[in-house]
Amino acid sequence: MAKNPNDDETKDGLDNKKPFVSASDFSVPIIDFSGVHADALSRERMVEKIKDAAEKWGMFQVINHGVPLTVLEEIKDGVIRFHEEDPAVKKSYFSRDYTKTFNYFNSFELEDLSVGNLRDSFACYMAPDPPNPEELPVACRDAMIGYSDHVKILGGLIFELVSEALGLSHETLKRMNCTKGLQMICHYYPPCPQPDLTLGTRKHTDNTFITILLQDQIGGLQVLHQDCWVDVTPIHGALVINVGDFLQVSSFNFKLIMMTNNKFTSVNHRVLANRVGPRISVACFFCYPTNRNSTA
Ligand code: OGA
Ligand code: NI
Repeated sequence: MAKNPNDDETKDGLDNKKPFVSASDFSVPIIDFSGVHADALSRERMVEKIKDAAEKWGMFQVINHGVPLTVLEEIKDGVIRFHEEDPAVKKSYFSRDYTKTFNYFNSFELEDLSVGNLRDSFACYMAPDPPNPEELPVACRDAMIGYSDHVKILGGLIFELVSEALGLSHETLKRMNCTKGLQMICHYYPPCPQPDLTLGTRKHTDNTFITILLQDQIGGLQVLHQDCWVDVTPIHGALVINVGDFLQVSSFNFKLIMMTNNKFTSVNHRVLANRVGPRISVACFFCYPTNRNSTA
């Protein structure tokens, strides 16, 4: 589950004082997963790259990750279909009651533009209790189920590699239930006539073990690296992986604290508002597995 950016940001969350840098100065590491099952040496190299990226950036982009391009296109189309649905249909899902399976929330109607978070989103826990298909809107039902099935497999692989990057056996983080809880939040950022006055998503870290993010080609995602905002340049077919708070320092699992304490960085990131749009992104949060009927 993502930490609500409202929790730790105030109006100065626009944070324009920090310098922007272009991709040529710095860029988020790109890791090619195609060799993951090839041989031990390729896997070792990949684990080394993940370790380096997780320590220095808290974020990396993955290519050749095994999720088919068609599946990525279908989920983005599904998100657009839902958000462009008849308002009455969308309204029937509108809720901030997070015990519901599927929640639609429209932050730009609820918040002051100057504070940031100009977006329209829906959220659903896909694990440990997957929704009944009928609970999901027809517009995005099959796409959500199809995409989350692939994300669960990729998440399993990433937690294996991250375990190895921590010098542990590949099963360790899985055994600690890091892959059990999966929340999916699909964002629709409308075009913004005055992008200098607001943000798409304010600066925040994710309240997760790791996040797998799919973004379209519009751009706007930035990561705070060495006190500079660096663009996370969209790469067709890539997925963005970031380390969340629980992988950095876990307060609920002593063993995990011992293993990961401050080795990996839970990274601050944000999304700029854009004159063009809509921009679509799908964030899959591997989080502590809560039963959706509980209040945790
Ligand atoms: C988030 C997030 C980035 C994006 O949902 O936590 O950081 O590109 N999203 O939408
Ligand atoms: Ni985030």
